[in-house]
Amino acid sequence: MSIKFSFGKTPKSKSETVVIFTYGNKTLGASGKDIDKQSKGHIQNALKTASNFEGKSGQSTVIAMPKGSDFERVIVLGAGEAKKSTVLEIENLGANVLGTLKSVGAKHVSVIVDSVKGLGIKPEEFAAAFVTGIRLRSYGFHVYKKPESKNSLVQIDCVLDKQTAAKKLFTYEDAVAQGVYLARDVMNEPPNKLYPESYAKRLQKELKPLGVDVEILNEAQMKKMKFHSHLEVGKGSDRKSCVVIMRWHGAPVTKAKKTFSKTPIAFVGKGITFDTGGISIKPSAGMDAMKMDMGGSAAVVGLMKAIAARKSKANVVGIVALAENMPSARAYRPGDIINSMSGKTIQVDNTDAEGRLVLNDSLTYVQRTYKPKFVIDLATLTGAMMVALGHEYCGAFVNNDGLWSKLESSSQKTGEKLWRMPLDEAYRKAMEGKFSDLNNVGTMGRFGGACTAAGFLEHFIEDDTPWAHLDIAGKMEQKSDKGVTTAGGVGFGVRVLDRLISDHYE
Ligand code: BES
Ligand code: ZN
Ligand code: ZN
Repeated sequence: MSIKFSFGKTPKSKSETVVIFTYGNKTLGASGKDIDKQSKGHIQNALKTASNFEGKSGQSTVIAMPKGSDFERVIVLGAGEAKKSTVLEIENLGANVLGTLKSVGAKHVSVIVDSVKGLGIKPEEFAAAFVTGIRLRSYGFHVYKKPESKNSLVQIDCVLDKQTAAKKLFTYEDAVAQGVYLARDVMNEPPNKLYPESYAKRLQKELKPLGVDVEILNEAQMKKMKFHSHLEVGKGSDRKSCVVIMRWHGAPVTKAKKTFSKTPIAFVGKGITFDTGGISIKPSAGMDAMKMDMGGSAAVVGLMKAIAARKSKANVVGIVALAENMPSARAYRPGDIINSMSGKTIQVDNTDAEGRLVLNDSLTYVQRTYKPKFVIDLATLTGAMMVALGHEYCGAFVNNDGLWSKLESSSQKTGEKLWRMPLDEAYRKAMEGKFSDLNNVGTMGRFGGACTAAGFLEHFIEDDTPWAHLDIAGKMEQKSDKGVTTAGGVGFGVRVLDRLISDHYE
């Protein structure tokens, strides 16, 4: 069951648990002092003896309240030095308190945010960030196994003077969280359940009710429209490939319903629902993780949900290129020379470098059809990206400094970390073929694999369209919960791109 969040001026009578904050010390705020008075100094006494609690950020102490008190327990949570508070830090504080709330069996919780002198952010920002952290961290994937604990959290009520302002901020973040949840959900689905056609149907079900146009191109339509390179990747699978085009008309539409009145911005996602490597088959150890090789598409889909849920004023087109990469008698082979929508021919040296083969057609299609202001693609494209940046940063290859500076500031505001990587003539050149225009592996071999992959994609960017390629391989999956992210599919990209849109395109 999902947690309900509300905002009020006084604690709900149902709350058995109360959370209060101290800022870098043991000094209680106004509400803490009130509760302390009611309990005849019980909280101050407990704090005196709590040797592990100094009010540092993330430290907490759980105080059981005496019989007759309004609450069963008070959790005093260290929020660190007040003036150093940032939205991201408080989101993490909220995310990390979830473990404590669960371990004490809290069900109805009041979180009291007093106005504090010198707080680095406004109390309403503090409150919204704190519950946003809880919201993002409380994600779980329970489709095939029930959650273990029956004592789950039911309701969190945030108590502060500016409750309306806090609610407004949270309403926005809650819409974005819905997008993040969808991205995580589709990533966590197993590949026998989520394959191109079932995925496409799910997108219709999820997004149409929110007002997103969802168009599905089947293989016959893809063939007609020249998605040649993409279709090659799916040839070895019994699951048919498809392309899903999602359109959100946030800016007023003037003419026919399906025409954008203003140039849209565009997002393209790699959606390999399972990547065996094909004939260039991968080693079996850890291959199960390749069910998440649709992580780029998950970000695009989650983004569409987020902007629709919060009724963004932007015009946005999102395209996901879906296929399953399997070996079989019908599969494409190393050595094949294939066509693409762009007209460029490609020699396939390795069938495991399939992401770039599905992406190039959608990149061509979206540029020629929509003439977007910019296009951003997201893909779990290379193992080399992970070797370069580990699991901390997503690599961003951007051909336009203006677009990069916007991405960079959105990244800093949301905590979804991007690191700019190089695009260079040398990488593009390395991807040229001997008997074909391009080669999907190129001449640099293992070295600079993420950069050559970006160099390959750059061959499909037309007329200097501002473009960013985000290689999210390292941000695909994580083993355990961390801050606002959870074990399993991370859902990386939704927050940073949502912020890019809201800050600069509406
Ligand atoms: N989907 C993989 C990349 C990947 C690996 C993502 C691990 C996340 C975790 C991609 O299709 C792939 O296999 N790329 C090859 C390219 C190579 C053959 C040029 C790679 O990175 O080894
Ligand atoms: Zn691959
Ligand atoms: Zn792949």
